[in-house]
Amino acid sequence: MTTNALIGGWGMYAPSRIMTNDELSTFVDTSDEWIRTRTGIRERRIAADDETATTLAVHAARDALAVAGLDPGELDLVIVGTCTPDYPLPATAVLVATELGATRASGFDLQAACSGFLYALASGHSFIRSGMYRNVMVIGVEVLSRFLDWTDRSTCVLFGDGAGAVLLQASDAPGGLLGFDLFSDGTGCEGIIMPAGGSARPASHATVDAHQHAIRMLGSEVYKYATRQMGESAMAAVRNAGLTVDDVDQFVFHQANLRIINNVQKQLNIPAEKTYVNIEKYGNTSAASVPMALVEAVAAGRIHQGDKVLMVAFGAGYTAGAALMEWTADPTRAFLAPGEQTRSGQPRRALEEASA
Ligand code: UT7
Repeated sequence: MTTNALIGGWGMYAPSRIMTNDELSTFVDTSDEWIRTRTGIRERRIAADDETATTLAVHAARDALAVAGLDPGELDLVIVGTCTPDYPLPATAVLVATELGATRASGFDLQAACSGFLYALASGHSFIRSGMYRNVMVIGVEVLSRFLDWTDRSTCVLFGDGAGAVLLQASDAPGGLLGFDLFSDGTGCEGIIMPAGGSARPASHATVDAHQHAIRMLGSEVYKYATRQMGESAMAAVRNAGLTVDDVDQFVFHQANLRIINNVQKQLNIPAEKTYVNIEKYGNTSAASVPMALVEAVAAGRIHQGDKVLMVAFGAGYTAGAALMEWTADPTRAFLAPGEQTRSGQPRRALEEASA
């Protein structure tokens, strides 16, 4: 019998500090009008000084465990997709597992930039399908605010911080993850890059002075590539699942630019109501963007039991990923009364906000 990987729990976390476009325009030469019309972003969340990729990820993962009713001690593996880990080493996933109390879980980080969550999901799925593990926590998390050049208006207005998590569980029941497409093309290396801090250009006073530890992007080149590749990856994942785009009930695209999402919608001939968008609240949260949008789409009643959901992302590398799944969980499992505590003792802030 085939073992399927079903989503048994889900959670997200967004730092409470909101930075609006108007606030940005007080210290960099931009405007709310430019940012909104070019990207769809109105505001983004910024991690507090004492928050890190680990703390954000732990909030999201605790909620995912609470929704599933799973004890952290039953986790087999934690995979964290991130390009903004706490440290170059050790891996953030190891710190997250320990903080969760996942005493017998192994953990590793995976770096595929904005596509990281989908690569992590494909990895978690494979561990379950192979029979090696039964409970895998898959997290996309970023603290991009620490890796921005806040004097560069072409990048600093675009990004934000956040985390999203799903718990994959082995099951003999049908559904769960049905088809994937993973793509990469290193000729796009300069398209989105953090130029220094790696072995090619180690950190030095000169690299710090030149802001080379911050993200640089060739915006319009990335825009064109992303628009084409997200459409292609979406089609490939649907094909690999033996389905067509018309079979998909809800699309969750990487939230990098509303114009890219609208463009891909047109290419695939998707009605707007089938696409969940939250870029206006969070900006581009890279690897966290797809799981945060997924969790909010569930909270907003956009995803029902039995629905086919297609997630698609594109990012630095270039990389792209797409995953088609059949949603099997009862979405209302995640709704708690305001103020009610999850099993882990964490108030379910993000979901309360999302469903308000
Ligand atoms: O998550 C990974 C994937 N990332 C993406 O998919 C991002 C893809 N790229 C984009 O979303 C868009 O290219 C941007 C939003 C980054 C830029 O939009 P654009 O329409 O491609 O603008 P542009 O870069 O061609 O710049 C147009 C003008 C320029 O001025 P001039 O040269 O025409 O006078 C820029 O200097 O807009 C100017 N500009 C700004 N003006 C006000 C660039 N950034 C800003 C800003 N505020 N923040």
